[in-house]
Amino acid sequence: MNMQDLLARGRKAVPPRLAAASSLPPGFYTSKDVHALEVERVFRRHWQAVGHVSEVPEPGSYFRFDLAGEPLLIVRGADGTVRALSAVCRHRWMLLKEDAGKAASFSCPYHKWTYALDGKLIGAPLMEGAEGFAKENCALPSFACEIWNGLIFVNLDGTAPPLREQVAPLSLELAPWRMEEMELVGRLDFGQAYNWKVLVDNFMEAYHHFAIHPETFETHYPAAITYVDDAQGPFAALRIPHKGNEQAETLFTPLPGIPDKARRSFSVFNVYPSCLFAVLADAVIFYRLKIETEAFFQLSIYLLVHPRSLDVEEAEARKEIFLEATRAVHHEDIIACEGVQKGLASGSASPGRLSHLEAAIHQHQRWLLSELERA
Ligand code: FES
Ligand SMILES: [Fe+2]
Repeated sequence: MNMQDLLARGRKAVPPRLAAASSLPPGFYTSKDVHALEVERVFRRHWQAVGHVSEVPEPGSYFRFDLAGEPLLIVRGADGTVRALSAVCRHRWMLLKEDAGKAASFSCPYHKWTYALDGKLIGAPLMEGAEGFAKENCALPSFACEIWNGLIFVNLDGTAPPLREQVAPLSLELAPWRMEEMELVGRLDFGQAYNWKVLVDNFMEAYHHFAIHPETFETHYPAAITYVDDAQGPFAALRIPHKGNEQAETLFTPLPGIPDKARRSFSVFNVYPSCLFAVLADAVIFYRLKIETEAFFQLSIYLLVHPRSLDVEEAEARKEIFLEATRAVHHEDIIACEGVQKGLASGSASPGRLSHLEAAIHQHQRWLLSELERA
């Protein structure tokens, strides 16, 4: 099927009203051509979350990330600014780094061209014979980089409007959590052999709680009372109230200023296309996706807690409980996501009708379709 036909089928399956809507056709999840179009029109054009500021705490701190196939060095400069530099040497394309760590400068392993933390070329041995060669013309390319709520976002093509303008209502809501001051208390890494949207769909609906998470979620957070905010921009918000509107127990101490409502529910967000995070009264769980193909991505789950919230008895044991509970929930979700990926390959798979509890899937798919159609 050609792309125009597939997009037309998508439009038909995903009309404006949720009550009349299905999911996108399976081809949107399985086609290499759709993936290529997503790279061009979604991943390169929009802000994508690549990490948390706690990973670059000091000048010289850096880590590597591949965004839509673009090798990046995320680095805090001597001036304190976090930058997204190309990790590709300007000499003959060797990757400058493969790891994370702290450096005073970046020296290429191949022929030792050396770059300052802001990307300027400051050393290039034995280049005297190259006519017209000037170090100032060989800085590492730098990509648009914005920090929002402590999460580091990169926009590869530099055309996206400032993220904070697009998500202003969320900024206001999340300010009391002080996510930019949070620390990483645990991290889980998975290679996931299914389309990235299968996880986005799974993360943004709680309809499956009674079936997939009968003990881990449903007993305290019943699927039936969850709801989704009306769309207010390129993001979605799923609200998950605690049973009976009771205050939920927390592992850590919520910061003063966290509203009472947030202690009787938790919220789950997607800043489009794929920055997924859950906000609990005392912690944030951030899912970072490194999307590689239409059928594979690397998932890193970050457990973030404010240092002042860690002032509790047996903090280390509580971190361990938090990590194991998050791992258990994700293992339950993997069963669903892997099953869906196999089902998507079936010749008989077609768009399935959505429940009223799946409004965030509908919102995301409407947004995605319009972005894929935008030449
Ligand atoms: S490729 Fe980097 S110095 Fe030669
Ligand atoms: Fe789940």
